[in-house]
Amino acid sequence: MNPQEILKQMTLEEKAAFCSGRDFWHTKAIERLGVPGVMMCDGPHGLRKQEGEGDHLGINKSIETVCYPSAAALASSFDREVMRQLGEALGQECQAENVAMLLGPGLNIKRSPLCGRNFEYFSEDPYVAGEMGAAYVQALQSKGIAACAKHFACNDQETLRMSGSSNLDERTLREIYLPAFEAVVKKGKTRSLMCAYNAINGVFCAENKMLLTDILREEWQSDAFVVTDWGAVKDRAKGVASGLDLEMPGGPNATGEEILQAVKDGTLDEKDLDQAVLRLLKFVQDCVQQRQPDARIDRDACRALARKLAAECAVLMKNDGALPLQENQSVAFIGEFAEKPRYQGAGSSHINVPHPVSACETAKGIPYVRGYDSHSEQTDAVLLTQAVEMAKSVEIPVIFAGLPEVFETEGADRDHMRLPDNQNELIAAIAAVNPNTVVVLHGGSPVELPWLSLVNALLCVYLGGEQVGAATVDLLYGKVNPSGHLAETWPLRLQDNPSFLNFPGEEGVVTYAEGIFVGYRYYDKKEMPVNFCFGHGLSYTKFEYSDLRLEKASITDQETVTATVTVKNAGDRPGKAVVQLYVRDKESMVRRPFRELKAFEKVALQPGESREVSFALDKRAFAYWEPKCHDFYVESGEFVIEIGESSRDIRCQQTLQVEGTTLLSFAVTENTTIGQLLKHPKGRVIIGQMIGSSAMAHEDQTDSMGEGSERMMQSMMMGIPLGALVSYGRLTPEKLKALIASLNS
Ligand code: BGC
Repeated sequence: MNPQEILKQMTLEEKAAFCSGRDFWHTKAIERLGVPGVMMCDGPHGLRKQEGEGDHLGINKSIETVCYPSAAALASSFDREVMRQLGEALGQECQAENVAMLLGPGLNIKRSPLCGRNFEYFSEDPYVAGEMGAAYVQALQSKGIAACAKHFACNDQETLRMSGSSNLDERTLREIYLPAFEAVVKKGKTRSLMCAYNAINGVFCAENKMLLTDILREEWQSDAFVVTDWGAVKDRAKGVASGLDLEMPGGPNATGEEILQAVKDGTLDEKDLDQAVLRLLKFVQDCVQQRQPDARIDRDACRALARKLAAECAVLMKNDGALPLQENQSVAFIGEFAEKPRYQGAGSSHINVPHPVSACETAKGIPYVRGYDSHSEQTDAVLLTQAVEMAKSVEIPVIFAGLPEVFETEGADRDHMRLPDNQNELIAAIAAVNPNTVVVLHGGSPVELPWLSLVNALLCVYLGGEQVGAATVDLLYGKVNPSGHLAETWPLRLQDNPSFLNFPGEEGVVTYAEGIFVGYRYYDKKEMPVNFCFGHGLSYTKFEYSDLRLEKASITDQETVTATVTVKNAGDRPGKAVVQLYVRDKESMVRRPFRELKAFEKVALQPGESREVSFALDKRAFAYWEPKCHDFYVESGEFVIEIGESSRDIRCQQTLQVEGTTLLSFAVTENTTIGQLLKHPKGRVIIGQMIGSSAMAHEDQTDSMGEGSERMMQSMMMGIPLGALVSYGRLTPEKLKALIASLNS
């Protein structure tokens, strides 16, 4: 197959038609030119291959297969190796099932705990989402299967997901909502992206030239093709002109007629259509070239992998000593999820699992009572009494709780952050009679924990896939040492969340008014009490960090610096540490989060073992997005490099001097302040001279008034707009005009 040659031979009608699918899951074939149709399927934490009637809501049947942990769980592993193993297993399965592209990973940001699809998304932090996503994409694609990063972009809620507009400023878009996609494009080299249903600042993603062409193709230099989310097409021809390639699902109504007409009447340039067709042909060519018709899948091995990965993802949030359980202790399992685990969310990612594995069937012989009815929120007095009685009779009651499936689904957001009342009542009642109560939590997103101080231990298994029950038993009994850390903050209550006043928006518009202060960037800046902070996770062993050193004491933003730290397993069990590196800008002219995660690494250590871990930091570790130059920008100054076990547990730090090498260029007006001019290449020279002379003029005064007043004078001066210098008699109107003209020249 030679895409360029095929393109030349295609008629205009064929080209227009080729840009929409054949049916729910296939691209069109062009038989006369030897171009096959290829299949794509939902996932991404399993393979949802539909052989019968297709749907994008998780309703109709798909093949029976293995369900791995969902993205919210995977992110907590903080382990690129987990993503690699998962991506390779799924790639192999896609080859065996003749599927060319798996629709995922989901890279939207967990802006609010209420988003119904949070379980499909990695984190509140774009760096974690991008790193985990890129590792997955690389692994999947190493098996010759295309990834499709979705939903590009700002699809962070389900309310009005198909018609609403996410309105946000440029800096927030670039620092929070795009970097995960950027990582998956640049580092993961994803072969495809799925554009989101929603609009960004009023322009639908399916026809958003800024997103699909200016940023994706030109700035990020990607040749990935873009497919619509299923049914996201608005104006088809405008879509092609903006950089959209494939419309899905296909079928009788997706004929390409609109594209054809637009080319004929001159409103769409045929060259834009050719670009789209060429990108699609290259994708099909790649699929053909990388096809492995002999690939086989060993589903038993996949199940064993699902169990191993689920254990890597769980987060031990609290442990006052009840865990790990000992074989000789009397234990009871309480709560319906011990018997019927919650292991995945509802909607298009739903995997058809023949037999999800429960904790009850794994730990045979442990007494069990149901405790609550997961289909109701009301306490059932009989179930509650049985459970309390059982809890009194054992050393350790383990309660399996969490969000019922109807709470977490594609297409609907949650309307509160609580567990069902019957579960909260059960946990409080049991904790009141047994101080060793352990809670195992299932769900894709944080919940309020009103009983937290009453229970001894809390293990969050998120939505851990079909083997979650087995993995939970492995963790409870210490066969596996918990090593997950939270990729999101667990606030005390919903009202504390920064998006609270602006979720899910009104009249179809959601304003991201919290800006860049999403998740820990907000809670930590405000030093707010939370249940569990970002990055938190306990282990049955403990880790010590020492000897943080930087390869250089100062760099320019064109250089990289290596930070090296020693981490030691100071306990008596093998375990895995998640070494987290944060960067803090000591002083800044703009609002910045208190600290931001810029690197992490998971390290396995035997008892007593130490290892050195190194991280390379480049410009992006210090930069913020500066709208004045429409680019990432580093302000010169001191930055603190911090190593922690969470965003609030910093163990060592070092200071680094970074010199920014970009000078901002922006239009100067009469209203530009002296402070702003300091960022202007010519302005700072002129202002430097002016500050010098004015400081001298005030010398006598400041001498008598002290240091504080000097600062006051300086800051007053920074706020003075150029125009006011005329009123103060420091410039004539003519001189001001000339100054502005020369600054802008
Ligand atoms: C979802 C996508 C999914 C597609 C196909 C859409 O409704 O938003 O994530 O891949 O359907 O099922």
